[in-house]
This record gives sequence, C-alpha cells and structure tokens, in this order.
Amino acid sequence: METEVRTPPTICGMGHRMKRKEDARFLFGKGRYVDDIKLPGMLYMDIVRSPFAHARIKSINAERALAMDGVVAVITGKDLEKYNLHWMPTLMGDTQMVLPTDRVMYQAQEVAAVIATDRYIAADAVEAIEVEYEPLEPVVDPFRALEPDAPVLRTDKGKTDNHIWHWEVGDREATERAFQEADVVVKQQIYIPRIHVASIETCGCIADYNPAEGKLTVYMTTQAPHVVRTALALVAGHVGLSEEKIRVISPDIGGGFGGKVPTYPGYVIAIAASVLLGKPVKWIEDRSENLQADSFARDYHITAELAATKDGKITALRIKTLADHGYTDAAANPSKFPAGLFSICTGSYDIKHAFVEVDAVYTNKPPGGVAYRCSFRVTEAVHAIERMVDVLAQKLGMDPAELRFRNFVQPDQFPYKSALGWEYDSGNYPAALRKAMDLIGYEELRREQAERRARGELIGIGISSFTEIVGAGPSRHFDILGIKMFDSCELRIHPTGKAIARFGTKSQGQGHETTYAQIIAEELGIPAAHVQVEEGDTDTAPYGLGTYASRSTPTAGAAAAMAARKVREKARKIAAYLLEVSEEDLEWEPGVFRVKGAPDKSVTIQEIAFAAYTNHPPGMEAGLEAVHYYDPPNLTFPFGSYICVVDIDKGTGQVKIRRFVAVDDCGHVINPMIVEGQIHGGLTMGFAPAMMEELVYDEEGNILTGSFMDYLLPTAVETPRWETARTVTPSPHHPLGAKGVGESATVGAPAAIVNAVVDALSPYGVTHIDIPITPYKVWKILHEKGVV
Ligand code: CDP
Repeated sequence: METEVRTPPTICGMGHRMKRKEDARFLFGKGRYVDDIKLPGMLYMDIVRSPFAHARIKSINAERALAMDGVVAVITGKDLEKYNLHWMPTLMGDTQMVLPTDRVMYQAQEVAAVIATDRYIAADAVEAIEVEYEPLEPVVDPFRALEPDAPVLRTDKGKTDNHIWHWEVGDREATERAFQEADVVVKQQIYIPRIHVASIETCGCIADYNPAEGKLTVYMTTQAPHVVRTALALVAGHVGLSEEKIRVISPDIGGGFGGKVPTYPGYVIAIAASVLLGKPVKWIEDRSENLQADSFARDYHITAELAATKDGKITALRIKTLADHGYTDAAANPSKFPAGLFSICTGSYDIKHAFVEVDAVYTNKPPGGVAYRCSFRVTEAVHAIERMVDVLAQKLGMDPAELRFRNFVQPDQFPYKSALGWEYDSGNYPAALRKAMDLIGYEELRREQAERRARGELIGIGISSFTEIVGAGPSRHFDILGIKMFDSCELRIHPTGKAIARFGTKSQGQGHETTYAQIIAEELGIPAAHVQVEEGDTDTAPYGLGTYASRSTPTAGAAAAMAARKVREKARKIAAYLLEVSEEDLEWEPGVFRVKGAPDKSVTIQEIAFAAYTNHPPGMEAGLEAVHYYDPPNLTFPFGSYICVVDIDKGTGQVKIRRFVAVDDCGHVINPMIVEGQIHGGLTMGFAPAMMEELVYDEEGNILTGSFMDYLLPTAVETPRWETARTVTPSPHHPLGAKGVGESATVGAPAAIVNAVVDALSPYGVTHIDIPITPYKVWKILHEKGVV
C-alpha cells in the first residue's frame, strides 16, 4: 500500500515531494538564529565553569574581573540566592543548581557568570575570576555510587544514599516461572554509553527585560517554548515575572534532537542578569561547553535475558537496568515515565511474559538522560531486544531472520496489547522484513558469507526489526510538569483564500513549514504554497508542548487536519448559502464544493473565503478560522526492518559497512522527500553512536571527550550509502493515518550494525560487543580470540 496522492501538484497536499518552503532562507544564508539577533545596548554573558567533578567552593574572587574595562557585573550563586533563584526544578521533579552556593557536582558545571559589553571581554573576564576549590571524592561509576561507603551527593535533599528511584513494570512471578520452564535461556550484559547530540547550533538565548513595560522577551533555542514560559512563570513569578509578562520566541533552530528541551542554567542566569541590569543579555555556548555540560543521552547498564523453547519461540523477557543520571535527574521525560518509554522493549515480538526494572543513581556527571533523537529511551529498548534476539539465534544455531519471523506480532493481532501494557496501533512486521531481505538479496548474501568464511574472511549480516512508540501523548497518561501532552493548531483563512496556521510545536529542521502546509492543502484544497506556517512565539502561537520524540505529526499534524476540517464544515455552510442548496446536496473535492448531480454548479474554497468576509449567511459570524487542541487517543507505533552488511579488515579491526537497507513504515506519508531526509539523518545518527560517539570520563570525573578532537562525529566520508524503502501501514486512530518518523532510524540502526559485526565474528565465539564499535575494540577481539 502507498499513500494515495489526491491533490494535483498545484495544490500539493499529502504524498507530494514538495520542496521545503523554509530552505530558500537557509540556502541564501537568511535564516534567523538566536545568535543572528542583535538588540540595541545588548550585553554578553560568559560562564566560569568548574575544573573539578566534585568540590567545595571555598571562595570566589571577582575583583580582577570587575576591574576590567567593559565588565558590567559578575553573578554568583550567592547573588541568585537572595532572590531564591539559585536552584530550579527539573522536568522530572528533581532540583538543579542554577549557580552553586557551596558545592560543584560535575566538571564544567556553571560556577559564576560575567556580563560584559563584548563577548571577548566577557571571555577574558572569566579567566580573571579566581575560584578556590576544595576537591571532594567524586562518584563516577554508577555501580560504585550504590556502595554503602560511596560519598552521598545530594545531601541538599536530605538523602542518605545515591539511589534516585526504582521503577518496574510487568509480571515478575509469571516471568520467573517462564524462565524456570524454558528450554533455553540467554543472558547478556549490554552497556549503552553516554552520548551527546552535538547539533550544529549550540544552545543560547537573549534575555531582554524591558523595565518600562515590566515585560521579558527571551529569544531562545528551545524545542518547547510554551512549557519554558510556564516554567519560568512558576519559578520567577515571585519576582514579578508572571506568565503574560513573559514572551518566549524560538527563532530558527539549528538542530535540537532533544538537547534543546531542558531549561539550562545559562538561560536562567541570562534572564536574571537582564532583569537586574535592565538591558538585553546574550548568552551563546561554545562547542565544548555544549558537549561537556548540556543534557546527554543513554548511559544505561542493561542485563537482559530471554527465555525460549528449543524451536525458537520466545516465552519471556527479563531486564534489569542501572541508569546513570548524573547529579540530578533532569531527563526530559513525560512526568509519569521516569525510565521513558523503555517498556517498549518487548519490541516487535509476541512475548507472553516480561518484567523490567530500572534503578536510577546520582553520579558526578552532567544531568540529563534522553537527549539524542531517541523517543524517550526507545533506542535503549530496541538495542536490548534486537541484540538479545541475535544472541538467542546464535545459541539456537538459527538464522536470525527466521527467529524473527517465528516471533513477530502477526498482522492480524493488531491492535496488539504487549506484556508491558502498550496497545500497538498497527503493523506488518513480516512484510517489512521480507521487503528488506528481498532488497538486499539476503539468501544470496548468506551463501556468499558461507563461501567467504571458508576462506577465513570476515563478513557479517545484521538485522534489526524494531518497533517505535511516538506521539506523546494521550492526556490520561502523558504530561510534562502536569501539563497534558496535547498539541495545537490555530488556522485562519484570509479573504483571498490564503491561510496562516500557527502551532504549539517548533521545528528544528524537520520541515514543518512545508508538511503542515501540505496537511492543510490536503484538507482544504488551498495550495500549500499559500499556507503560511508559524511556530515558536508564545505571544502568537496556541499552547502546545513542543517538538521532540517524533510527536509533531501524531499530535500537531493531527490538530492541523482537525482544524482544517472545522474550517471545511463552516465553508460547507457558506457554500450551501452561495449555491442556494442544502448542505447535504454538496460534495467536496479538494478545493471545491459541487452540487451533486450538477457538477458545473460549484464554488471554490477561495470564493467561499471571500464570502466569509463579504457575503456570509445572515446570522453566521464573519470570518473563516478554527482552533484545535488534539489529544491523541493512543500513541503511534512506527516500525521498520534494517539489514546491514559489514566487511571487517583483519589487520586493522576496521569495520566497513558495505550495504545498509532500511525499510521504514510510518503509516501514511505527508511528504516522501522529507521522510526520506528524516531517515537518512536518523540513520547517520544511529551509525554515529554505533561506531564512534561516546562521552568518556576518567576516574576523577574528568571528561576525556570534551571537544571534537576526541568526541568523534561521522562526516559524509565515514557515513555509508543508505538504501531506503517503505511499507505503508496506516495508523487507525490518527486522522491522516500517519505515524511519526523523525527518530525511527536512530532507534533502529545501531542494533543492525552491532548484529552484523557480531555475526561476522560469531564463528570465533563472540556473542556481543558494546557500542561504539571502534577499530581498536575489534582489533583486540581479533587478537584475544586468536582470529589473527
Ligand atoms: O516531531 P518531529 O517533527 O521531530 O517528528 P515527526 O512528526 O516524525 O516529523 C518529522 C518530519 O517528517 C515532519 O516534517 C513531518 O511532517 C514529516 N512526516 C511526514 O511527512 N509523514 C509522516 N508520516 C511522518 C512525518
């Protein structure tokens, strides 16, 4: 099945490969990012950061800095304490320092801020500030954090250990029984390391407090402007910043990937500085600050087990995980999901019994947890189950594709209730895997592999058949800071039949200006070129929870369709009036109402729009507009099957991805070109942590990968050529049958790559390798296993 194209290219509704409307300004260098904005009298902020992972601050001497020409102020935790602004809440109900008053908790933590007339003066003044520290024993390893004699980090919360929370789901006893009765059990430790998104644009803001109006405008790199405004009002209401006095504007954003969801201390310090000084204050992170201090992702230490019959029917899954959250739990998860949506870990398989538990701990590292295009821990879940299926296949001596086919949730089982409580909306997993196998020539590859193995060559084939869960979310379960996770569209049709649509989401490069316009074009027949889309200004956009975790299409995309349908209903009434028939006598085709049986009697949406302001029916309000707040009835469950083929160089341990086929299914597609772009980007962001990226700390808590010299990102040179294809299984509950797609590929790709590498090395007894799979890691294995 493919998405039906119902509109001509002049209208460009769903299914058209419309070129992105926003690209012209990006390609001409006319994008407007925070750092492009310069306000009169603007000051610049730079931040003093801790060299220690854990230390007491004995003193801060700012005398030399304050004496420098151009330095306006130095702000410390003690200054903020006077206004009770030295701590702030995190999205997970924990607390985080804005600036410390006595202790620092990770290397690169904010210690003080300099405000100056010039960015370079601010940077020089940072160097001139003398901070005396008393180093304390750091807690770096999360397992060490749980030992009884480990230093307790959060004494401010009255804690007596470093344990944050325990979370579990599933039936422990039934799972236990299934394991006891199983023919075969496999168990594997899997570490999914700490990584960082490294989007092109770092984080930053301009806080502009106007003392005459008592109004604060913050231009900010945020994926969730409305939530930030509400949070600011809750935190700073007591100093006069109530919600109507705060305007958050999120201009163009150069990549977010979750890293621009949290409220970072830098934002709050810049706001405090602007309020205190009555001038605009700009703060833009440099690359190392971004890498060392902003929200990270993963850091899950997983022990996974599968139980199965000897012919390969999986009967139970058990997972125990230790999650390293850094010094505060600042993961940007929905409130009720401390471990995100990790419980999607039964994946694409019909597993009767499952039990999952996660324990979170504090360590002396930066806070965060989910910021890497990961749909709230779905990557961790997919990695665990997709690795375990291969571990089981190896143990059973069965082809991993065959094992997957034997265990897939079957198409006729949808809606499918998983053992861990999710109701999958739709899927056809065997079709996606079959398509990927046909595209790559799976059977032929296995034959080639057997021949080459006989010659001692290392070739591996890896599969990942993942299930995603996106579209947070239904208000009965999903909220952030108590605010339900709906999203919104406000649509207004102008007299000449052109439109403006505003949304509660915020694109960071996903192309919303194009795809939302296409949705409205699809529903109303107004050319997408004439639908102006706006997001990111809390003074004008309707309230929404923002863009992350591939939620925009499932929530705001649906809101766009619903708002357009409301407009169409009013348009129908006006059309009936204009054509002097009853509404029931009208039929709709994109952009036109026609009288049934008299197709030449018709009125276009443009004529109707004009009439809405000039000649509307008596008793009807003028105008043509609608608002919709969409509360999704369920999440959407995109899926896919990826197959990766690798060749390994025995001499160097270098893994070369020969081919990578990705078959994705995100239901109906709004813009196939944008979806392909999302998948290409997502695959590259799956390849990166699989092969290169890792935030590494030494035993003192020093970050060893604090710049791009050591934190490796793939360029076009390293990135494989992606071969993509699609199946279309519509979501039954989304108004357009669409599912989210932005994060699918990042979620699904790493396991395919690892499975391929392990497959290549499996004849030598290798069952697992933790990512990133560096040449050195592989080279060591080759030597340890006596392969060379
Ligand atoms: O929330 P975010 O925008 O990151 O993710 P998304 O909802 O998966 O959408 C990413 C981009 O792909 C948007 O421009 C969507 O409109 C587009 N998309 C699409 O064209 N068709 C789909 N079925 C899903 C997404």
